[in-house]
Amino acid sequence: MKEFQMFCIAIDGPAAAGKGTISKAVARALDVAHLDTGLLYRAVGVKTLGGCPALEAAQGLTSEDLERTDLRGPEAAQAASKVAVLPEVRAALVDFQRAFARRAGGAVLDGRDIGTVICPNAEVKLFVTASAEVRAQRRFLELSAKGEADSLAAVLADVKARDERDMNRAEAPMRPADDAVIIDTSELSIEEAIAASLREIEARR
Ligand code: DC
Repeated sequence: MKEFQMFCIAIDGPAAAGKGTISKAVARALDVAHLDTGLLYRAVGVKTLGGCPALEAAQGLTSEDLERTDLRGPEAAQAASKVAVLPEVRAALVDFQRAFARRAGGAVLDGRDIGTVICPNAEVKLFVTASAEVRAQRRFLELSAKGEADSLAAVLADVKARDERDMNRAEAPMRPADDAVIIDTSELSIEEAIAASLREIEARR
């Protein structure tokens, strides 16, 4: 799509706020590439669970590492959040993300620091959020559907622990960029959240 050449859309926010679903839907609607940057940190985290030093894991990340089937679970999420506090791990992943953001045809990147650190000049920045209770409830339903349900209280504790670590780390903490549009999905259906995001993007094209 010529009109979206070099067009970067940064979508940040906490776990289970809907940013992954919104990012995929936006990328599909605009016919641009999408990178889920959380997957990079998950792949590094899972490699450390297998005994690989974090920096080595980040520097040697391969496309096969990103295709592993064990990246989506809660263990991978916590491991990702732990390696994500390490400045050298973050530095090792910057170039790949920036190159993706600049690809011809445009790109949507979702994560925690896309609008603040990876693409500070992104044409559109969204910060997708929801209350911790709503996010935990959504994650609980997802896990239950897969037969992997913990208790709701345990999922909420997990969500809060990850928020705490992601928001309070020294390097690239999760926060909305000053020029980000906040989309609170607590009271929105996923269709409404996607529509609201597309409206904001259209308004900034
Ligand atoms: O988006 P996710 O839940 O897959 O991310 C997993 C963890 O990776 C998250 O808790 C923090 C880290 N992360 C990050 O620090 N920066 C990003 N751009 C994306 C994810």
